[in-house]
Amino acid sequence: MNPQVRSLLTTGVSLTDEALERLLPSPDTLPHSIHRAMRHSTFAGGKRLRPILCMEAARMVAGTLPEGVADLGAALEMIHTYSLIHDDLPALDNDDLRRGQPTCHVAFSEATAILAGDALQTLAFQTIANLPAPPATVVALLREVSAAVATGVGQVGDLHTALPPGMIGGQVMDIESEGVKPTADLVEAIHRAKTGALITVSIVAGGLYGSSDQPSADTIARLRTFGEKAGLAFQIVDDVLDMTQDSAQLGKTAGKDTATDKATWPAVYGIDQSIRDADQLIADAFEALAPFGEAAQPLKDLAQYLTTRTN
Ligand code: IPE
Ligand code: IPE
Ligand code: MG
Ligand code: MG
Ligand code: MG
Repeated sequence: MNPQVRSLLTTGVSLTDEALERLLPSPDTLPHSIHRAMRHSTFAGGKRLRPILCMEAARMVAGTLPEGVADLGAALEMIHTYSLIHDDLPALDNDDLRRGQPTCHVAFSEATAILAGDALQTLAFQTIANLPAPPATVVALLREVSAAVATGVGQVGDLHTALPPGMIGGQVMDIESEGVKPTADLVEAIHRAKTGALITVSIVAGGLYGSSDQPSADTIARLRTFGEKAGLAFQIVDDVLDMTQDSAQLGKTAGKDTATDKATWPAVYGIDQSIRDADQLIADAFEALAPFGEAAQPLKDLAQYLTTRTN
């Protein structure tokens, strides 16, 4: 791995973990079960990519890491962890391994896992509401993040919806598409919604937070385009890794998508084309950041890492 990326990741993980440690209730808070379950999944060893993308977007826009941005990153990681806890539930993907640990419902109970997911999502919005930022910035962040978690799927072929892509809408389509032969349009809509939306908003939120005095519409639009391309590439790579790596390397059950007949990018295009598509999307993502010059290098390095990662 390139040493710049390694250092971005190491520093980003510790900033995120320090914020999460402070923001999550202690394991001795009553009722013990839910607080221990929230911590079990949150501290199981995630890559922290969404907070790191958020912090680097903020740094690019502000010129320095703005105070409090780690809490915004931590809020995004809480939402991501909630989505993984629910994604693994028996009623969804039914997985027993996550981040190299037993999934939340296996380590605790299904009821506790459902509630721990709910609680992480609620705590995320509370954390955003408490950020040390002007009220207009906080409202803009709440609006962006809630839309990204919501139920839209954007545009699928001829079917237009009024709602932008949202993670929950993507998860609904993912589950409802099991066993259906996926079309290119369908799998793209699922991926943009279930995964792309949260990655995109992590980058946009960083940009809004880093420019709270006066966010430039052009800057935010460029960050959004970068996030959409990188977010789609991220899920394509997740689909490829599911087929090419083993469970020990992934920290989650390998081969699961084929076994459950999921609508994946390789199911439509095959593995080789999927890898080419992810690389092309990253090249397109870079284009969006061209006007920022050298200041965009950390975000570009991170986007490159999204496609070269092995877990
Ligand atoms: C996994 O995300 C779920 C997807 C959206 C594909 P990550 O690969 O970022 O998982 P962690 O956070 O590192 O465990
Ligand atoms: C997960 O997609 C997307 C969300 C959690 C919103 P996957 O189901 O492919 O993620 P993994 O492979 O279980 O991490
Ligand atoms: Mg899933
Ligand atoms: Mg899954
Ligand atoms: Mg997957």
